[in-house]
Amino acid sequence: MRLDPANRLDDSFGYWHHSRVNLKQAQSAAVKAAHAAGKVMRQNLRKPKKANEVTSHDIKLELDVRCQKLIEKILLASFPEIPLLGEEGDSGDVQSEYRWVVDPIDGTVNYAYGIPHACVSIALQKKVSSSKTAKHHSVVGVVYDPFQNELWTAIRGQKALLNGTPIRVSPRRNLNECVVSIGFAKSRGSMEKALPYFIWLARRVRKIRMLGAAALGLTYVATGRLDAYIERGVNLWDVAAGGLIIECAGGKYWSEPTDDEKIRMIASNGLIHKKLPIPK
Ligand code: IPD
Repeated sequence: MRLDPANRLDDSFGYWHHSRVNLKQAQSAAVKAAHAAGKVMRQNLRKPKKANEVTSHDIKLELDVRCQKLIEKILLASFPEIPLLGEEGDSGDVQSEYRWVVDPIDGTVNYAYGIPHACVSIALQKKVSSSKTAKHHSVVGVVYDPFQNELWTAIRGQKALLNGTPIRVSPRRNLNECVVSIGFAKSRGSMEKALPYFIWLARRVRKIRMLGAAALGLTYVATGRLDAYIERGVNLWDVAAGGLIIECAGGKYWSEPTDDEKIRMIASNGLIHKKLPIPK
């Protein structure tokens, strides 16, 4: 039995199993949810915002919670059985075979300060098991920038799209021609570790950028605008959608858990990957 690839069922185990999810439908639900949350973000960009929590290097907004609830409602309407792991809390058993991974507003500090560089990030992940481990990988990725009206989508095994048009990572091979972005995570410890990396990199690339929204950093690599995005200390919801979008755009996404339950990652066009040291 062959499937229309644009409407295929998830067969990433290579065989049919009873709890399969139609990935095209999942992507449509995620796009609908991202558009709805993006509209709320647009409407509130210039308005005063209520902060639920403020720390030295981070802000959590009441709007983060409002947007996640909206996303959850839309996803649950189409897929009531799939749990959700989100920046603003989980619902259901997130170790299930499938799960949504949601960052309702990625780039919250930008957004809180009225800088229109923030996005919604939604991934559908599926458990993959080997003889030794079971872990989840993303099978659908959606990132929406409501200020530029840019929507990135990917389904594992298919081409990544920006507003419906296929995208590809950059062809640059030499670090000295590259524009590379780095993220500084929220904790002082992660920041201290990232600073030497920043200095090392700044001396070797054409330009270094800190744009403040990890998911957009990843989609910019997927689109060939940046050549790499590097961070030590991101959370799963920051990278679950963007990591898949990079892979589907021909790039390389590498990540590893850190001791403090965060993620260190390097996403690149693939050609400069080996030239970038792993952030400690
Ligand atoms: C943060 C942003 C930031 C990155 C942090 C993330 P949030 O996400 O993506 O650019 O450096 O690691 O946690 O808190 O705005 O959703």
